Amino acid sequence: MRKKLIIPILAIIFFVGLCASTMAGGHGHKAPKKVGILLVAFGSSEPSAQVSFENIDKQTRAAYPGIPIRWAYTSHIIRKKLAKQGKHLESPEVALAKMQDEGFTHVAVQSLHTIGGAEYHDLRRTVGAFKMMGEFQRVILGYPLLAAQEDMQRAVNAILKSIPSDRRKTEAVVLMGHGTHHPSNAFYAALMFQLQLKDPNIFLGTVEGYPEVDLIKELLLEKKIKKAYLMPFMSVAGDHAKNDMAGDEDDSWKSILTQAGIQCVPILKGTAEYDDFVAIWVDHIRGPLGHFE
Ligand code: CO
Repeated sequence: MRKKLIIPILAIIFFVGLCASTMAGGHGHKAPKKVGILLVAFGSSEPSAQVSFENIDKQTRAAYPGIPIRWAYTSHIIRKKLAKQGKHLESPEVALAKMQDEGFTHVAVQSLHTIGGAEYHDLRRTVGAFKMMGEFQRVILGYPLLAAQEDMQRAVNAILKSIPSDRRKTEAVVLMGHGTHHPSNAFYAALMFQLQLKDPNIFLGTVEGYPEVDLIKELLLEKKIKKAYLMPFMSVAGDHAKNDMAGDEDDSWKSILTQAGIQCVPILKGTAEYDDFVAIWVDHIRGPLGHFE
């Protein structure tokens, strides 16, 4: 008998809690609807990366006119570095808390990550915590660049378009992804497979995951490729692109491939500098926004 009572009581407590939180406007009135977008990137302290963020900001504003946009960086190290330069960027937690304070009721949090890796899943947890607190009527996270098969197809097309027009088909294009220990690392090899269906001399390696540069080098040598365009497959041309990809150190991709007799042409442009990539992220905001109507 007692057990039977517990569930309705819990339901009442939950319901009362829910009412209190959705009436966060106070005095029993539901807060007026205020929709916002929070763009969340890993972040970069490199000046060369800012052009990517500016492009995303510009395109988001153009796609969703009238919706206020806020930014957050997930990397604590980057935020600390920027603070020393007098630039104050917030963590997603602080940015969301400030948006609560500003009276936002519906927030679309958009991941600007390339894959749904560790950073993305950390962000999911943060968004989940805000959801549970119930201070927003709705707070929803949008997918990173690569999620659905349609994204893969769009990314393939964006990559094909971003290749310099003077590159010959016998020359390789070697993309540098970030790579991760996270299971989502498999997206890189999956994307390379789909790229190679269109153009067999496009390769995609990673700095911190699979495929590694040594494997890419073997594949290039097997095909007797003499020249390769090196391009970052990261939203910004930051530290990895400048040093790990195009640097003069012995272990940079440029050095490793040059040592193997392959002429390298590095291109220091992040994916977010190209509108076709940015359009994928920007379109993903439509997912959360669609639930706010
Ligand atoms: Co890194």
